[in-house]
Amino acid sequence: MLTLRDLLLLSAAAFASAEAGDKVPRQGPTGTAAWAAAQSKAAAAVARLSQQDKINMVTGIGWERGPCVGNTSPVNSIRYPQLCLQDGPLGIRFATGATTFTPAIQAASTWDIELIRQRAIWHGQEAKAAGVHVILGPAPGALGKIPAAGRNWEGFGVDPYLAGIASAVTIEGLQSSGVQATVKHFLLNEQEYNRETMSSNADDRTVHELYLWPFADAVHSNVASVMCSYNKVNGSWACENDKLLNGLLKTELGFPGYVVSDWNAHHTTNGAANAGMDMTMPGTDFNGGKVLWGPQLNTAVNNGQVPRSRLDDMAKRILASWYLVGQDAGYPQTNLRANVQGNHKENTRAVARDGTVLLRNDGILPLKNPRRIALVGSATVVNPRGMNACVDRGCNEGALGMGWGSGTAEYPYFVSPHDALRTRAQQDGATVVLHSSDNTNNVQNVVSGADVAIVVITADSGEGYITVQGHAGDRNHLDPWHNGNQLVQAVAQANKNVIVVVHSTGPVILETILNTPGVRAVVWGGLPGNENGNAMVDILYGLVSPSGKLPYTIGKSPSDYGTAVIRGDDNFREGLFIDYRHFDNARIEPRFEFGFGLSYTNFTFSDLTITSNARSGPATGPTIPGGRADLWEDVATITAVVKNTGGVQGAEVPQLYITLPSSAPSTPPKQLRGFAKLKLAPGASGTAIFNLRRKDLSYWDTARQNWVVPSGEFGVSVGASSRDIRLTGKFTV
Ligand code: NOJ
Repeated sequence: MLTLRDLLLLSAAAFASAEAGDKVPRQGPTGTAAWAAAQSKAAAAVARLSQQDKINMVTGIGWERGPCVGNTSPVNSIRYPQLCLQDGPLGIRFATGATTFTPAIQAASTWDIELIRQRAIWHGQEAKAAGVHVILGPAPGALGKIPAAGRNWEGFGVDPYLAGIASAVTIEGLQSSGVQATVKHFLLNEQEYNRETMSSNADDRTVHELYLWPFADAVHSNVASVMCSYNKVNGSWACENDKLLNGLLKTELGFPGYVVSDWNAHHTTNGAANAGMDMTMPGTDFNGGKVLWGPQLNTAVNNGQVPRSRLDDMAKRILASWYLVGQDAGYPQTNLRANVQGNHKENTRAVARDGTVLLRNDGILPLKNPRRIALVGSATVVNPRGMNACVDRGCNEGALGMGWGSGTAEYPYFVSPHDALRTRAQQDGATVVLHSSDNTNNVQNVVSGADVAIVVITADSGEGYITVQGHAGDRNHLDPWHNGNQLVQAVAQANKNVIVVVHSTGPVILETILNTPGVRAVVWGGLPGNENGNAMVDILYGLVSPSGKLPYTIGKSPSDYGTAVIRGDDNFREGLFIDYRHFDNARIEPRFEFGFGLSYTNFTFSDLTITSNARSGPATGPTIPGGRADLWEDVATITAVVKNTGGVQGAEVPQLYITLPSSAPSTPPKQLRGFAKLKLAPGASGTAIFNLRRKDLSYWDTARQNWVVPSGEFGVSVGASSRDIRLTGKFTV
């Protein structure tokens, strides 16, 4: 039988062909085999545990009572350690010698599976070296249906396919390094406002086709744990929602690992236990008071309110995940002060750079040896109070690298736009003149006469427990912060060679800036982490051609999205129609569509091929981790040739969108179902190979309670964005 290590090696080999730049990412072998050995070890261990041991294993020791944000008690008889659970999606929170990897939204913006995989492997190595057992990420929920929602930047963008593949690769990367991954937040946690009181009420089909989708990929990639969210789902708390945990997650998706509560998302002793929650965190409320498991769970088990078998199952799931990633042998002691960074900043910089999206360029970029460069904005320099001055990055002062909240970590260093530009200018013998504030007074004196004026603006957001400049997690609007529009206008009055660089956690309305004469280029720097300035200079000077593509739509107006932060319960009225699915369906012209991004070179698309042996009808087969087995089988292959016809090396992201036949009930006009990143020298061609799994051609049939491949004609669109379609075709099922 294959060991987990064999499986991981196989999966690495499968990815190696993607490195050649000619294949779409494929998930590695997954499923039942990987879990079987771990489960049998776990069953043997559970048989040796006392009831108190099991209670200790499932109950956090209390807020701020251990080295990590979440800790349980050790069980010495089976050499089970004090488990350390630590945020978060981008690095080791509160560590002093760890890398802050570039935020997930920027990783998604690269559309580069190899960079995403390397990011996760290195993050996992750091976590293991620091003795962290469980990393609380990735975070594909929030998916990001609300553009202003505070925590969208912790996830991989608004398309479930993209978020699903990126989550799967991240989990495989983290776990191959020996750390357990926790996919979060389960489910429908799409905004910060009222997150701990509101109910997210979504219909069955929307849940399956959008929000559950990336979690299915995560389970298929053997994620060790799932974090249930703060909100209610269809009226019951996510952490005690039987349909959600026992039903969708553990039965339909066949999830073998454990469900951990979000911190204080636990509401009742028996309700959570019987609905399928397996671990409570942090074990007390944030004041160290209320305890819902521990002694209370003990009593409930003794009284028969929670079956003994349920407690055994919790312990078995937790232990199986621990064995699955091999933490039972030689795992380092927890030490959040260890220096574990290695050379990982290579990935940080590459993700920041390759996730940068060129939105407008009239030819001013790449820069042509400017002699005098004006640099404008408070976001051009490191926060004058210190790069980590604000707890959990809860302020917007100086250059922006990440949003705020629990999904942050302490920067080990920070390269601001000014730092990087000054270094480059020194090499060239050029001059940088700096106006490091957002004040329009005097800015025109600084920029007039410069060969080029670079204005850096920002928009920030984060988790709701911190309010920054009146934004309580979610943004109050989609405009640039600090009067960014006025700053750009003021600069453009005095200099006609303006380049605007935007650093933001999510979409910003750019109409004012785009309509300002003199704005010759707009560079969407996204959320670049601490390699902020280096990534900017790499792109502006053409060290690499920009190759990022938007992981969300930039609309012309906030109302174009059809979704916004909700003040009461959220009934998910928009259903399947979020972001580009909505813009396409409602025929709204976006400013920059999902998947958009310019380059310094040109690409042509040709030679579309389509082969399909898909059969219509419902999914069948046994349930493996992720759902029914045949959902994961390849049933069609589409290929396209992309040629670099321009003058410089570059990378294109061919994207495959599928249109379901009209026999499927009302469905978005097209949905992303494949992508590749082809790195091509001038004149070179590459082939994108899109392998479609059965699930990629299915819709969720609410009557049959199953995925169904509809019969009829499937539309195939391959292009450079969701609107820039270069090749079309069809096949019939
Ligand atoms: C609450 C956040 O929602 C969650 O993402 C995080 O992992 C925990 N706090 C622990 O910090």
